Formats: sequence, structure tokens, C-alpha cells
Amino acid sequence: MAGLIDPFQRIIRYLRVSVTDRCNYRCFYCMPSQGMEWEERAEFLTFEELTRIIRLFTELGVDKVRLTGGEPLVRRGLLDFVKQLDALPGLKDLSMSSNAHLLGNQAADLKAAGISRVNISLDSLKPEVFRRITVNGDLEPVLQGIDAALKAGMHPVKINMVVMKGLNDGEIETMLDYAIERGADLRYIETMPIGEAGIAGTDYYMPAVEILARLKEHLGEELIPAKGGKGAGPARYYQISSGPVRVGVISALSRHFCDDCNRVRLTAKGDLVLCLGQEDRVSLRDGLRTGYSDDEIKKEILKAIARKPRSHEFNDDNSRVSLRHMSSLGG
Ligand code: GTP
Ligand code: 5AD
Ligand code: SF4
Repeated sequence: MAGLIDPFQRIIRYLRVSVTDRCNYRCFYCMPSQGMEWEERAEFLTFEELTRIIRLFTELGVDKVRLTGGEPLVRRGLLDFVKQLDALPGLKDLSMSSNAHLLGNQAADLKAAGISRVNISLDSLKPEVFRRITVNGDLEPVLQGIDAALKAGMHPVKINMVVMKGLNDGEIETMLDYAIERGADLRYIETMPIGEAGIAGTDYYMPAVEILARLKEHLGEELIPAKGGKGAGPARYYQISSGPVRVGVISALSRHFCDDCNRVRLTAKGDLVLCLGQEDRVSLRDGLRTGYSDDEIKKEILKAIARKPRSHEFNDDNSRVSLRHMSSLGG
């Protein structure tokens, strides 16, 4: 069967897989403080089912898979699942997005099992601000988790900082120094209006241009767009002279990466979500559980990809995305 090409001639090679909607943190811009209902665990695809779907995606040309959550490390049995994925011949890049709270003890095993790189959320280096943003999260194990990932040889380790005016924007410079010291890449993320929580987060919105101006001031140099730095991902990267790390900004509202979008998302329940900023989704679970053959599931995937929208609708009408939770989509 041919590869996955959407109606806008974009080739889909990247699948983001949320293995659970649960998280040991509750970042206020990601999860609402009240009224968050977890999916029943029985609704989740089993690791066998997930491996089968991911194998079918790789047969259709996907070569990059990112495990997300919620927090992927809270799902039991993840390590064996990673080993199964690592054995898929078509998969070239297996990565994970994590809050790193549980990474300290697991980084070396995960690396050995096949996770080559991690992206880690770290919004503050001040314990009390960190606790406020994550709602009772503990900074120390996260810092240990980052160091363990670096020590295990995961590369790159990318730090994601959601920048919020009046909350953590005073730490733009210290976060850069922290990343440079460790040789980690750093991305500054603008808040996105996904779910009520995300919309509440935009009260603290700080545009990427302001972040870049602050970096220029701090470093005393122009930031030069990195060669090949745009790629198909959400971040625009810049070079700095003080080290080999990459510094990026992720400004979803500008839509700059939709034209090159190469990704779709699978939720823990088996819904294929065609765009982070739109409702459209197709359940693959029913087919899986009613005995579809591999070819029949591939047909479902192809049908879904044919419906992938051109871009998110964040600018158009926030209410259309207000029912969703970033946490169950894995970012
Ligand atoms: P790599 O490029 O593979 O390292 O991953 P990534 O940057 O896409 O993944 P990560 O999970 O670290 O996400 C970083 C930020 O980008 C998060 O805030 C995501 O929500 C956001 N993001 C990732 N993909 C998309 C997308 O397709 N659309 C939008 N609007 N945001 C995205
Ligand atoms: N806006 C921007 N980024 C968000 N993330 C979660 N919710 C939001 C939001 N509303 C980020 C997390 C994590 C990544 C996967 O998504 O901080 O780094
Ligand atoms: Fe958990 Fe990540 Fe959402 Fe924070 S941003 S609540 S760590 S899934």
C-alpha cells in the first residue's frame, strides 16, 4: 500500500501515541483543576493492540513515533512495550515526552530498550513556582530525571518551558543558562488555547518575539536561525555562540508549521486525532476489537488521513476546542 499522503500533499511520517490520559502532575494550563474525568482503563488499547496499530503505521511509511500521555511513565509495563516497538523494522526514531518525575530510576533502562531521546517539561527552576504551575509537583526528582536522561546518553534531551508572563517569564534567562550548562536543547513554548485549562493559561500569554528579544539581550548577540532549523516540527530553532545546544520557540498561534505538518495522534483509547487544534478524529479501536484484518485497519487509517484538515483553528474560534484536554492528546 502507498504511503500516507493527506489532501494537501503532506506526507505523514510521525505518529504521536498517548499511552494514558493520566498524569502524576496537573499543570494548570493542561488539566482543569476540577471536572477532569479519566477514561476507564478498560477503554485503553492494550500494549499488544497499540503495537499492532503502530506496526501498521510503519508499514504505511511512518518512521517516527513519540510516546506521550498524560505522563507515559505512569502506565505499567511501558518498558516491555518500548522493547516491542524497538523491534519494528520500519521505526527509525522512537522518543518520549515526559514530565521526568519518574525518569531518574528508569532512564537507563528506557534508553537500552529503545527510547533514543526525550522531551521534558520544565517550566521553572524555583521549587515554589514549579509547584504552583504543576499543582504540587516536586522539582527535585524532575531535575534528577533530566540528569539521568543525559547520563544514559539520550540525545538530544529537549527541555520544554511554557512561558507565562508574570509567572515564570523571569526565568527565561536562567533556564537558558541551565540548559547550556547541561548540553540540553531548550524550547520556549507559547501557551495554546486547548481545553478550558489551556484557554485559562493564555491569560499569561507571552509572544515568542518578546522571548527572543530577551534572549538577544541576555546573550548580547543576534539569534541566527539554525540551518535546517525549521524542519517539520513546531519549533523554530536558533543558533547561539556559547554552545552546541539548540534554542527554539514554539508559537502555535502563528500556524507556521501547519503547511509542513507531518504528524497525527493516537489517543490511549485508539482515536486517531488528525490535528492537535481540531476535533476531527476516527476510532481505530472498534475495528481492532471486531477482528479487522491488517489490510482493513490500514484502509481505515488511509480514510482518516484523507480527512486531515489544512490547519488548526486556534485563531478562529476558541470555543470549538474548549471541550478537549491537552493531557489526553499528549501535546
Ligand atoms: P520533536 O520535534 O520530535 O522533538 O517533538 P515535538 O517538539 O513535536 O514534541 P513535544 O511533545 O516536545 O511538543 C512540544 C510542543 O509542541 C508542545 O507544546 C506540543 O503541544 C506542541 N506541538 C507538537 N506538535 C504540534 C502540532 O502538530 N500542532 C501544534 N499546534 N502544536 C504541536
Ligand atoms: N499550551 C502550550 N503547551 C502545552 N503543553 C501542555 N499544555 C499546553 C498548553 N495549553 C505542553 C507541555 C509539554 C508538551 C508536551 O505540551 O508543557 O511540554
Ligand atoms: Fe502532566 Fe504534562 Fe499535562 Fe503537566 S503538561 S499535567 S506534566 S501531561
